[in-house]
Amino acid sequence: MQSFLNKTAVITGAGSGMGRYLAVLLAKAGCNVAICDIDESALAETSKMVNHYNVACSMHTVDIADREQIDNFYEKVLERHKTVELLFNNAGITVLSDFANMSEKDWDRVIDVNFHGVINLSRKFLSHLRLRPEAALINTSSIFGMITVPNQSVYHAAKFAVRGFTESIAKEFKGTNLQIHSVHPGHIGTNILSSAKREESVPDLNLVNIVGKDISQEEQGKIFRENGMHPSRAAKIILSGIKAKRSRILVGLDAKIMDLTQRLTPNHYQKLWPFLLLPLFAFRRGLRKPLSDLPG
Ligand SMILES: NC(=O)c1ccc[n+]([C@@H]2O[C@H](COP(=O)([O-])OP(=O)(O)OC[C@H]3O[C@@H](n4cnc5c(N)ncnc54)[C@H](O)[C@@H]3O)[C@@H](O)[C@H]2O)c1
Repeated sequence: MQSFLNKTAVITGAGSGMGRYLAVLLAKAGCNVAICDIDESALAETSKMVNHYNVACSMHTVDIADREQIDNFYEKVLERHKTVELLFNNAGITVLSDFANMSEKDWDRVIDVNFHGVINLSRKFLSHLRLRPEAALINTSSIFGMITVPNQSVYHAAKFAVRGFTESIAKEFKGTNLQIHSVHPGHIGTNILSSAKREESVPDLNLVNIVGKDISQEEQGKIFRENGMHPSRAAKIILSGIKAKRSRILVGLDAKIMDLTQRLTPNHYQKLWPFLLLPLFAFRRGLRKPLSDLPG
């Protein structure tokens, strides 16, 4: 796909982070957008940004874990836009907990949003997308769909599954009008950590071990947001990957390094990260800033 001009894109999780900036950059490129999120007020903020551009924008408050809501969403989008050429299955959540302490309810919620949401939306839009002269299905997995860390078992389970699903159907549609991409971001400075549910009974979760003291989830979320690549830059990389027809889109040098280390040393890759990843934090200050020339 060489151009997004006059096409229509459906974007889930468009109220925040990468989803928001996918919507903004697509609108900037002349693409109409149907933006979807479970959070109505966040979605309205994205809509304000998109409305700086002269494209059609529809807003849909949807819980992608709910099949009935997906059916209804599909009808509404086609009623409003008539055609859809791009579907970004971007929305995702996580829970911070080891497996032993995680409730079934939390496990099921992450799988329902991060995996079943992707499957059900793909299934719903597929028959429409395959009839368009040019179309793309873009499913966001993660670098955590390639490597693993502790206390993220459900997130890994869902993201490995999204990658497997996406890479398999990419083979089924190879050579057709429908291009299929799996997206694997590294650390992107978004709200995903501050929105994550945290299982308080788990003693040594995540950053405590790195900064050497216990800090609140709010502070963790802020550190995560301020030190990752800005989501507008991540969105730009994703859109370039679609134009270049890269089936696997790795977002950020950290993602590329983590991918390479797991290929080179599948059992010990984490031991290499302090040497390879920590220097990146110092050198990528510029990437934390938003792209210039975007609505605030
Ligand atoms: N931020 C990172 O470092 C990172 C790294 C790898 C992969 N990812 C993946 O990228 C995608 C985008 O995440 P982000 O970092 O921009 O996160 P974010 O938290 O900033 O945005 C996610 C959006 O999805 C929405 N959402 C959550 N549950 C939903 C539901 N049931 N139905 C509809 N919308 C829902 C949220 O309201 C939010 O607006 C996710 O799939 C995430 O797993 C993120």
